[in-house]
Amino acid sequence: MREIAKLDDIPREGLRFTYKDGPFDEQGILLRLPSGAVRAYKNECRHLPMPLDDREPGELWDPERRFLVCGSHGAIYRPENGLCTAGPCRGSHLRALPIVVGGDSVYLDTTKIGGFFDPA
Ligand code: FES
Repeated sequence: MREIAKLDDIPREGLRFTYKDGPFDEQGILLRLPSGAVRAYKNECRHLPMPLDDREPGELWDPERRFLVCGSHGAIYRPENGLCTAGPCRGSHLRALPIVVGGDSVYLDTTKIGGFFDPA
């Protein structure tokens, strides 16, 4: 287990972090939802293997901040479960990352991603 962040340090727009999955450097998105639930996804669209914010770095959300949006072709994802509800990959899910909340911190379970974690 590697700590990603303290719960109180997760900004409203989410926190990006990097991790290694085997030999690959990957980027994750850590979200704290209005309900208090925490989610983490690989920052990769399910239409094409590109970061959601490839065209506009740092912009992951629709204007109302209700949905994650891929800036390339407009796929829309629910932040609570990663389901794509509109766009070219409708019905697919963002890849959820294995996290554990313990105390006031969020941890990445590195035993389940085949690699190890390096903080951004
Ligand atoms: S790469 Fe995300 S919608 Fe096409």
